[in-house]
Amino acid sequence: MFQAIMADFARIVILTGAGISAESGIDTFRAAGGLWEQHRVEDVATPEGFARDPDLVLGFYDMRRAALARAQPNPAHEALARLEREFSKVPGRDLLLVTQNVDDLHERGGSARVLHMHGELKSALCTACETRSPWREAMLHRPPCPACAEPGLRPDVVWFGEMPYQMGRIYQALEACDLFVSIGTSGAVYPAAGFVQEARAAGARTLELNLEPSEGSRLFHETRLGPASVLVPEWVDEVLQTRI
Ligand code: OAD
Repeated sequence: MFQAIMADFARIVILTGAGISAESGIDTFRAAGGLWEQHRVEDVATPEGFARDPDLVLGFYDMRRAALARAQPNPAHEALARLEREFSKVPGRDLLLVTQNVDDLHERGGSARVLHMHGELKSALCTACETRSPWREAMLHRPPCPACAEPGLRPDVVWFGEMPYQMGRIYQALEACDLFVSIGTSGAVYPAAGFVQEARAAGARTLELNLEPSEGSRLFHETRLGPASVLVPEWVDEVLQTRI
């Protein structure tokens, strides 16, 4: 069984998606009533949509940033932070937390190293000077860029047709990992949906924790179904009991 060989894992890559933040009150994308049912992807998550109607796009991300301010991390975020802390105490162990989420609930849950491959709601990207700046306010009123003062800020969020952040570093970690864990993602969006195959090609064990089987569920060695707030702390307990 999975648990019996857990003690051998030294290099873990964890991928999270919207499902890990669902119990914090953040909308997922593809559920009935989710964000992509309320808004057309082409309108609010593509460079073309932004060019066509910047007010609509800026307003959409202002709304999501405001919702984030009202959300709190849940036990799943906190458990991953605990795993990171314990892992960092043991030489030779490496943990990379990659999230597709643009919220900051991993950081507020205590994780110190989080790689946001789809960008962050609390960051602004200047279309004039390309500087990325920490950002907490609304953008609809066209505030000036803190670096160049041009009113050209957009959300620092990766849209469809754009390149996710830090892919080189992620593939390097996948090639070297011995365990890959996917949490709360539907497996509908590449390149993240392909990480499980990269990890398997590198010889890693693969585990999925999700409310329902993802699109790529059969690619994992093991799938556990249930809410992240329950499954993730349980899994972290297993890892820490067997290895530290
Ligand atoms: P999705 O909305 O596609 O999928 C969320 C997954 O989380 C689903 O498989 C749900 O079953 C699962 N889920 C829901 N509630 C859960 C819970 N409480 N515990 C565990 N799992 C739960 O979201 P993502 O897979 O993150 O990209 O979407 C990937 C990307 O598509 C997003 O980053 C975004 C979106 O378009 C961009 O905007 C570029």
